[in-house]
Amino acid sequence: MTEPTDAISALTAKRPSPGEKYYPPFKPTAELEKEAQRLVNMYPEGKEQSAVLPIIHLLQEKFGYICPESLPWIAEQCKSTEIHVAGIVSFYPGIHTRCPGKWHIRVCRTIACSLSGGEELLRYICEKVGIDPAELDGAEPMGVSADGLWSVEPVECLANCGFGPNIMVNDTLHSRMNKEKVDQLLADYAAKA
Ligand code: FES
Repeated sequence: MTEPTDAISALTAKRPSPGEKYYPPFKPTAELEKEAQRLVNMYPEGKEQSAVLPIIHLLQEKFGYICPESLPWIAEQCKSTEIHVAGIVSFYPGIHTRCPGKWHIRVCRTIACSLSGGEELLRYICEKVGIDPAELDGAEPMGVSADGLWSVEPVECLANCGFGPNIMVNDTLHSRMNKEKVDQLLADYAAKA
């Protein structure tokens, strides 16, 4: 039987990413703890574990991903266990266990977008930003460019099916994409870096 500590290691083994240069490393400060406790206090006494997801979102926004070192800290904040936190982190595709690039591109691969050119667009974007599409087949299907500027992740439906192919760059949705629009979009984001 797998020991919990082995399971945690398997789920959260550190995978270095060139994107790390665009995010600060995880550091448990008093300010971060205060923000985590504010989230914990939104739930009734005895239900502190309910704050696990909000705290994960807080950390992902600040540090880009959920690093292995942060798991015991998260567990401590909401009176949970490391294995519980690791289970949640590994369950949701939207939670990253590897640091993304500065500009994280999600490409919808669900049927409507696939049929309207999404699959080809995914390959085209990988080629443009220098990511090997084979990287997208791993446990966490995300590739990061060598300069850390870009990451690409195929995702399921982005809830805009009638206007595909759809992609998201960080939190912004871009619809009815084609190669020309991708070229312009990449140039625009690269100029903001
Ligand atoms: S299938 Fe792509 S947004 Fe729904």
